[in-house]
Amino acid sequence: MTFRKGNPSYVSCLMKDVLKSWPWYFTSIVATIVYLLMDFYMRKMIGTVADDIIYQKESFMMSFVLLLGSTFLASPFHGISTYTKGRMSEEVLLKLRLAIGKKTTKLSMPYLETHDSGEIISHLGSELDTLNGFTYYGLSMVTTLFVQLIGVTGFMLAVDPEITIVFILLSLLVLPFSILLTKQVRRNEKVYRSQLAKSQQRAKEGINFITLVKAFRLEKMISNQYEKALHQATDAAIKNEKTVAYVAAAGKAIGFIPLTVMIALGVFRIFEGTLTQGELLSLVAIGGGFFSWLQGTPDTVAYLRKAQVACERVYGFLDLPEEENGTETKRHQKDSCMVKIDDVHFAYPGEKEVLYGISMEISEGESVALVGASGSGKSSIIKLICGFITPDSGSVEVMGNPIEDWNKEAMRRNIAFVGQESHLFPGTLRENLLTNHMNIEDEKLMALCKRAGLEALLGERGLDGSVGEAGFQFSGGEKQRITILRALLKDADLILLDEPTSALDAVSEESIQECLRMLTKGKTSLTIAHRMATIKNADRIYVLHQGRIVQCGSHDELFKQEGQYRKMLKLQELKERVI
Ligand SMILES: Nc1ncnc2c1ncn2[C@@H]1O[C@H](COP(=O)(O)OP(=O)(O)OP(=O)(O)O)[C@@H](O)[C@H]1O
Ligand SMILES: [Mg+2]
Repeated sequence: MTFRKGNPSYVSCLMKDVLKSWPWYFTSIVATIVYLLMDFYMRKMIGTVADDIIYQKESFMMSFVLLLGSTFLASPFHGISTYTKGRMSEEVLLKLRLAIGKKTTKLSMPYLETHDSGEIISHLGSELDTLNGFTYYGLSMVTTLFVQLIGVTGFMLAVDPEITIVFILLSLLVLPFSILLTKQVRRNEKVYRSQLAKSQQRAKEGINFITLVKAFRLEKMISNQYEKALHQATDAAIKNEKTVAYVAAAGKAIGFIPLTVMIALGVFRIFEGTLTQGELLSLVAIGGGFFSWLQGTPDTVAYLRKAQVACERVYGFLDLPEEENGTETKRHQKDSCMVKIDDVHFAYPGEKEVLYGISMEISEGESVALVGASGSGKSSIIKLICGFITPDSGSVEVMGNPIEDWNKEAMRRNIAFVGQESHLFPGTLRENLLTNHMNIEDEKLMALCKRAGLEALLGERGLDGSVGEAGFQFSGGEKQRITILRALLKDADLILLDEPTSALDAVSEESIQECLRMLTKGKTSLTIAHRMATIKNADRIYVLHQGRIVQCGSHDELFKQEGQYRKMLKLQELKERVI
């Protein structure tokens, strides 16, 4: 894909992509031009044949054969033009679809966290459809405009120069008129596209979180938001339709002027004896065809404006800044500190600071824990280590390299992460466990699944059973156990666990604890947990309070101190006793 930074003309980006399919594009243009010229010739020959009949010329048969011949010869060119246009626009569409898919995985986390996924669905759906229509239909209209003008002028000039000049000048009045009047179509189209994207997002939420929606009776709220966005989109679309209708009606009205003037002048010339009936017929056939084409321009111009908006939205999306990446190819520096965070301050865009001067270290082979109240910034520290967010000040080093020097994809290959929310992808259990085409024997995989308490599940579906859309067919605990196993199988150097046992009951937690011990054994790990039992055995525990590290040490050391850690332990003890 081609991008322009700064003030991009996205239409020219689309043209560059079209030109990458140049064999199809140029063939379509050539075929269309040949077809048009033959069509003009055929129209001219109608008049010639008429004159030959009226004046009983001997050349009648010859003229008639030429008329028929041009009609038959024109047809294959029309077919070639249709196929090559379709082929070219499908190629461009495929490139754009692939680019949008790729871009989605490369966008920065702050963008993804603050934007509706409905926008992306909209780019991939209706906006690409509009662009497809433009590359198929609009582009050839625009590129053959000059051929139309030159062809019409040429063929008509050969019949009667004066009538031709008057006709062309009057006809061209319609073009600026259409351009001026369809200006506001672009503004309405922008509203239409963004509201349509919003309505798609609401519909998606309604489906993905259907249990939540039903449990909290949010149907009305979701459907109100959906309907509101749809109504706003429809209002904008109706405004556009109105504008196009006014312009089209006015265009038709003005349209009669050049044709009427031409016929009047023609009849006058016939009486004068300087024009034959057949020549007038040729002029009307050529001019009339051209004029009906020109009369369609309000629609075409309005359509081009809509395509311009779709183009701006699609290429604007492809032009969004991507996740920052180092240029150097860094590797894990063995014998260096696995993670070193030094005096990091961080605020989410437009929000107040959530991390205040965080400094922490995780050495190779160490098992480190992070505890703190909800909202104290624990997950934000994990995002920092994964390179999902960039510190406002201070430094982060991962596996011996400053994080900004890392190619993030290469860095994350060495990191296994289990998040607060477990997500399964549509596919089989095996596909969900074995990421990056790992090759592990079934026996070993089954044994691991059994140790993770997934025996019953395997009995029902086996490794190649489907997990359903987003893992709908699994319980929260089962999903979490699968995601932990996924991390274990990745065999990464650094393991990040963000509350991995939060959705498990006491029995399941016990069964998974062993797996977690296996997962972290001999590895470097950072574990976030509310339950003290999960992190008691950690080599070091960092206690986070309102974005600051307030304590650091082993469980025994921290337990002896009066402080946040003991307070948290006591609270939990109390809670467990009550339960
Ligand atoms: N994408 C975001 N944009 C803006 N603010 C955010 C974002 N993510 C988190 N925050 C805010 O940053 C603060 C720290 O959030 P974080 O998720 O790191 O907390 P946490 O300690 O993991 O909490 P919990 O234990 O509930 O998971 C919170 O006040 C949260 O509202
Ligand atoms: Mg969290």
